Amino acid sequence: MYSKKLIVYFSKSGNTKKLAEMIQAQVGGDLLSIDDPKPDFSAYDLVFLGTPNYSATVAPDMAAYIQSIDLTGCTVAPFCTHGMGGLQNVGEDMVKLCKGAKVFPTLPIKGVDVAEGGEKLTAWLKDNGIL
Ligand SMILES: Cc1cc2nc3c(=O)[nH]c(=O)nc-3n(C[C@H](O)[C@H](O)[C@H](O)COP(=O)(O)O)c2cc1C
Repeated sequence: MYSKKLIVYFSKSGNTKKLAEMIQAQVGGDLLSIDDPKPDFSAYDLVFLGTPNYSATVAPDMAAYIQSIDLTGCTVAPFCTHGMGGLQNVGEDMVKLCKGAKVFPTLPIKGVDVAEGGEKLTAWLKDNGIL
């Protein structure tokens, strides 16, 4: 089990923020947006990273944030909200961005369905041994 958890998200219209809050409600941990001061990532044994799907990939603001931090040795659980396109390249691009980290499969939830996504979230948490 993971003892020290961090959730960091980028969200423009609120869907990814809402999903980040749902994750915190299920697993606990610290919740930050990419606009908050950067924490010491090595202090956490599990880092959730949340992004909207922008143009079939990780939103540029989140991609830039990930490139500015050191995730070596971290375990990363990425999550994504999206429109009609679904996950598209977000999962594989998250793996590429999180250099040196162990990266779980990205959880995709349609932005308009986030409020009803609790069960899908729980299943993903269990599949990855987080719950
Ligand atoms: C600039 C922009 C590009 C987007 N591109 C895609 C896309 O390629 N595929 C997709 O499924 N949704 C796309 N969307 C929809 C968003 O991923 C979706 O609305 C998401 O839930 C927004 O997250 P937020 O509320 O946290 O900002 C795009 C939205 C914006 C604003």
